[in-house]
Amino acid sequence: MSVTTTRIALATGAQLHQVGLGVYQSSPGVATRTAVTTALELGYRHVDTARIYGNEADVGAAIKASAVPRDQVFVTTKLWNDDHGYDAALRALDASLARLGLDYIDLYLIHWPVPGKRRDSWRALERAFADGRARAIGVSNYLAPHLRELLGQAKVVPHVNQIELTPFLQRRDTCALCREHGIVIEAYSPLTRGQRLGDPTVTAIARAAERTPAQVLLRWGIQHGFVVLPKSVHRERIAENAAVFDFTLDAAAMTRLDALEEGLATGWDPAGAP
Ligand SMILES: NC(=O)c1ccc[n+]([C@@H]2O[C@H](COP(=O)([O-])OP(=O)(O)OC[C@H]3O[C@@H](n4cnc5c(N)ncnc54)[C@H](OP(=O)(O)O)[C@@H]3O)[C@@H](O)[C@H]2O)c1
Repeated sequence: MSVTTTRIALATGAQLHQVGLGVYQSSPGVATRTAVTTALELGYRHVDTARIYGNEADVGAAIKASAVPRDQVFVTTKLWNDDHGYDAALRALDASLARLGLDYIDLYLIHWPVPGKRRDSWRALERAFADGRARAIGVSNYLAPHLRELLGQAKVVPHVNQIELTPFLQRRDTCALCREHGIVIEAYSPLTRGQRLGDPTVTAIARAAERTPAQVLLRWGIQHGFVVLPKSVHRERIAENAAVFDFTLDAAAMTRLDALEEGLATGWDPAGAP
């Protein structure tokens, strides 16, 4: 089985697949290597990791061992909170590249809007972008106020903002600001970490579409123009989560899903971050 997917263009001109494999809480070692190997076999060409996930080495090893050329896989990793600051951020990127076994990263993100040093960290990412160690740079968990602060100082507008997004948490003001500035929006925890897969509206739409609730949530994100980053370590689910390009949710279904906003943050909520 292979995956048909659409691609989204970054401001850099790079194209990334709209479905990427997330590996947060994929255990380091064989579990992550198998998940990435499986995803590449099934046609995924986009993997989202982070230093704090502890599995960069496994992501890199699986890519290297695969038949897929490096330049056809889009790899993201992220700067963790204790690596902020200009020099520290550049050192952290080099350390991530070493663990991944790569000489450049397709996308390097500031993982959280840590107060104090995040401006210096952004200058470091701009430097990494200029020298080619990072082919694109961006942020994660930046809500509208964090983004406005960054846009006030940035020489390079972030190419991506990765935030938690589902019908149950839509961050409309942040998404509008991203669109205004050409920042590609990536939706993390797009399956609500399983917490709303049994929601009656989602399950009813899934039944009508002859799809699974997970596929409905992913399709909702895709039709809003987001990149979606579902995580699974199971082959059937990795396949299921990418089989979302041969059906469409009609306007009525999208409206019903859009009405599910409830401010559900399944992880830490950056709304509280100064
Ligand atoms: N930037 C950030 O701060 C941040 C934060 C959180 C996440 N992320 C990124 O986003 C990715 C996804 O987020 P997430 O891992 O928090 O949550 P998620 O993708 O919403 O949910 C993952 C959970 O759903 C299960 N699952 C996967 N596919 C399924 C399916 N088709 N049907 C039923 N259950 C399914 C997985 O279990 P199995 O693995 O057992 O299948 C896992 O327990 C992460 O891996 C990471 O790359 C980024």
